[in-house]
Amino acid sequence: MLKIKDISYTLPNHLSLFRNISLSINSEEIIGLSGKSGLGKTTLAKIVAGYIRADHGDINVQQKKDKPHPVQLIWQNPEQAVNPKWRIDKILAEAGTLDPSIIKKLKISEEWLHRYPEQLSGGELQRVCIARCLLARPEFIIADEMTTMLDPISQAEIFKMLLEHVQTNHIGLLIISHDKILLNNLCDKVIDFKQLMKPKKEINRIQ
Ligand SMILES: Nc1ncnc2c1ncn2[C@@H]1O[C@H](COP(=O)(O)OP(=O)(O)OP(=O)(O)O)[C@@H](O)[C@H]1O
Ligand SMILES: [Mg+2]
Repeated sequence: MLKIKDISYTLPNHLSLFRNISLSINSEEIIGLSGKSGLGKTTLAKIVAGYIRADHGDINVQQKKDKPHPVQLIWQNPEQAVNPKWRIDKILAEAGTLDPSIIKKLKISEEWLHRYPEQLSGGELQRVCIARCLLARPEFIIADEMTTMLDPISQAEIFKMLLEHVQTNHIGLLIISHDKILLNNLCDKVIDFKQLMKPKKEINRIQ
């Protein structure tokens, strides 16, 4: 189980973005996270996946030396998530040994492997990014607005591929999206970001 406990984060301008966020995800669970823009969903995702540090709090996963982080993040814009100067085969190899079954599952053509990111469509490149995420053998995946840029058919196809993989491999999945219909269709539970904050302690007044 991924346990995120009492995470707080202060922005570079010294303003507090959020305080005492807690959330748990089981290995078999698909959780949806929605909430108003700017509340800090992506920032929380970056903290959990090890890109940035929280002010304080506990997360019960740790990256082992020379291994990919056990929580992998799939970003909204695949173009910004890859090195534009690397060919697709190098981008995938960075995550781990190329597993033909994952490549096949994501319908990645052999021919794409020799291309550069700009030579793929947004949907094709997002499938490469998902393959890279799966090749890293994560225990948990955070998909942050993963299909927002895509048409509804590509969106459905991509989620189908990812969901099949997480379910057969017992990977916990957090889907961040503004699309409540999508979240209600796919997730075991849907949470609003505001619900993650610990309620203020009630003051016991002496009557
Ligand atoms: N490095 C940074 N420097 C300054 N401000 C930042 C930084 N990173 C994030 N922020 C601010 O923190 C707030 C939260 O950003 P974040 O991207 O986490 O929100 P979000 O909940 O994911 O929003 P959205 O639903 O629009 O994706 C925003 O107001 C953003 O401008
Ligand atoms: Mg965001």
